Amino acid sequence: MHRGVWYALAVGGLAVAGIAHASGTIEALARTCNNCHGVNGVSAGDGMPSIGGLPEGYLKTVMMEWKEGKRYSATMGRLIKGYTEEEIAGLAAYFSKLPWTPVAQKTDSKLVERGKQATQSCVSCHGPTGKAAMPTAPNLNGQNAKYLEMEMRKYLDDSIPMPAMMRMMAKQVKPEDLEAVAHFYASQK
Ligand code: HEC
Ligand code: HEC
Repeated sequence: MHRGVWYALAVGGLAVAGIAHASGTIEALARTCNNCHGVNGVSAGDGMPSIGGLPEGYLKTVMMEWKEGKRYSATMGRLIKGYTEEEIAGLAAYFSKLPWTPVAQKTDSKLVERGKQATQSCVSCHGPTGKAAMPTAPNLNGQNAKYLEMEMRKYLDDSIPMPAMMRMMAKQVKPEDLEAVAHFYASQK
């Protein structure tokens, strides 16, 4: 089974075949995103990432990478190909202006402590709690734990296109600590 299938199942086996490109104002377009990403872009769980309040530069970059086929995705690549560059810029601006809200989720305190120890080399870019310390990095604090773990496993999978720099960084985490790192960042406010 191709890895991509595994990722698709991991996010809940979403039926994406029927996604059509909505038209209208940026606000109307953004409402279609919330079907998966939650109200105001705050994840309701199931491995979906929160997107409301991510840095504008990061939002625009990832969406353009999907549009241009430079970045792996189970869902977003197919979806975003139907949007123009202007719409993508508008969506990035729209979601970046929403408040970043930690996801309501349970984390395991032992894993959180272990994860904290394993993230010393991450502080320079992600800050001590995952609150982005640079405009090209997404917030990790309070992000959905399952999503964070899946994303790190994607960086570690050399058979799919993902940004090179985080590939190198993800390799600094021992494989047995990936879940703990995800719980640590997910637990931060
Ligand atoms: C059918 C569900 C679905 C819809 C609708 C959807 N997304 Fe996504 N989105 C995902 C999934 C799943 C991921 C994880 C990447 C992947 O595998 O596709 C994701 C990831 C993202 C990310 C990356 C977040 C991060 O932390 O890196 C951004 C940004 C994003 N989506 C923006 C949008 C925008 C903007 C819209 C509306 C135009 C949208 N999404 C609509 C399912 C969806
Ligand atoms: C040199 C700066 C830098 C360092 C150090 C760094 N990161 Fe990152 N990180 C980034 C950038 C930039 C991105 C966005 C990359 C992309 O487009 O996927 C990112 C993305 C991520 C993501 C994906 C989040 C999402 O919403 O998709 C995770 C998880 C992550 N980093 C974890 C870590 C961990 C764990 C470490 C330490 C082992 C680390 N990073 C070290 C800069 C860094």
